[in-house]
Amino acid sequence: MKKFFIILVQLCAMSVFGQVWQAPPEYAQLDNPLPYNEATLRQGEKIFKRLCASCHGESGRGDVPSMQSLRPKPSDLTSVQVQNQTDGALFWKISEGKGLMASYKHMLSEEERWALVHYIRFLAKNNKRSEEIKSGAETEAFTGQVEQKQNNRGGATRSDKKTFAEAFPFTVLINAKTTHIIHPETFGLVIQHRFGYTFFDRSALTQFLGLDLAANMRFAFEIPFNERLMFEIGRTRYGKYYDLGVKYLLLRQTTDNSMPFSLALYENIAVTSDQAPAHSEDAVFDNGTPFTYKFYHRLSYDNQIIVSRKFNERLSGQVTFQLIWRNLMPYSEKPRFRNVVVAIPLAFRYRLGYMQAISFEIMPNNQPKNMPVALAYEVASSGNHVFQITYTNSDRFTGQNLFTVSTYNPHKGFILGFNLIRYF
Ligand code: HEC
Repeated sequence: MKKFFIILVQLCAMSVFGQVWQAPPEYAQLDNPLPYNEATLRQGEKIFKRLCASCHGESGRGDVPSMQSLRPKPSDLTSVQVQNQTDGALFWKISEGKGLMASYKHMLSEEERWALVHYIRFLAKNNKRSEEIKSGAETEAFTGQVEQKQNNRGGATRSDKKTFAEAFPFTVLINAKTTHIIHPETFGLVIQHRFGYTFFDRSALTQFLGLDLAANMRFAFEIPFNERLMFEIGRTRYGKYYDLGVKYLLLRQTTDNSMPFSLALYENIAVTSDQAPAHSEDAVFDNGTPFTYKFYHRLSYDNQIIVSRKFNERLSGQVTFQLIWRNLMPYSEKPRFRNVVVAIPLAFRYRLGYMQAISFEIMPNNQPKNMPVALAYEVASSGNHVFQITYTNSDRFTGQNLFTVSTYNPHKGFILGFNLIRYF
């Protein structure tokens, strides 16, 4: 209710005074946890030139000719109006975005966003010289600024508050769940889609690399509870599964490495809405009792302990300890799949730039002829939106499905697909 009134007041203010964009006080009070030093400024500069300069200009003055007709046009970040805002307020604006200005909280780590705030301060101080910041001049400019700022603050730096390193910027990599929890003020939609097998013969043309064939898909809504806890509800086409997941982030990796990894617990329960499996009159369970189909036979469970680490700005990896239980598993002579699966999936992501990455997953487990492998090329079109082209040897998604069908058939090719992740 309080939030409603605040929004109402803001709307009225906007209509009277034009655009008002103010950071909430709890964010505006935040201190920049990074030291204002050369390394931070270099990090900020690199990101700024890649992601921000196209609109705000290399000097931050918002003087890019093609942007001048926009309303509102990209702010002059060196202006008094911007520089009078606190570090926390600028951090919040970069994180949340508004209109044309994307939200960067999913694309950039907390550390990277704080580094940008320092760089924006640097740009203002160096307003006149900023065009000269090139190779040699750069170090000199940075060093000069650092000394000046440290003198102002009696030599103190603000490295006392912990910042967190995030191995993966979203909740699923290709099929593997990550340690990421969606931001408490957003809402997520994940669509995973796999086409048919791609054979490299004449059918590549007639079936358009398998895109014409039957496809499997899962879509899920993700609902955050707080910074550490989230829920998801998903639906998968093959097997007609509804699934309900919960993830809790127990440990968070810090940038100073006092906590070297993140650890999350994930639990998923799925129920199939499919018809009872076809069976003969005299079908029996393993122990010889006659087969009858009960509700609990529809249920399956996936338990995970996920440990991830961001190794550096480009490379992140994770290992999962996964235990899956299916209440009913159809008997098959060969290969013989079991009710219980133990798997140790490994996942890696290598960032190519701020908007592209390559991901890889391999999932060793105790099932016969089963080793899900997946590769993805990721294009994050904006901070709220991720698109991946996937190439996998299985068309299944959740643990309950991935490990209970064969992935090992030399006559089958790989499968093209895509993942689409969107935060609202
Ligand atoms: C597509 C163009 C675009 C890009 C790219 C962009 N911005 Fe912006 N930015 C804007 C616009 C437009 C505004 C003004 C928004 C408003 O006031 O409604 C803005 C506002 C801001 C503000 C708030 C200034 C104020 O007036 O309070 C900050 C801070 C900022 N941008 C930083 C960044 C940073 C850092 C990046 C790169 C990570 C970035 N922007 C990338 C267009 C862009």
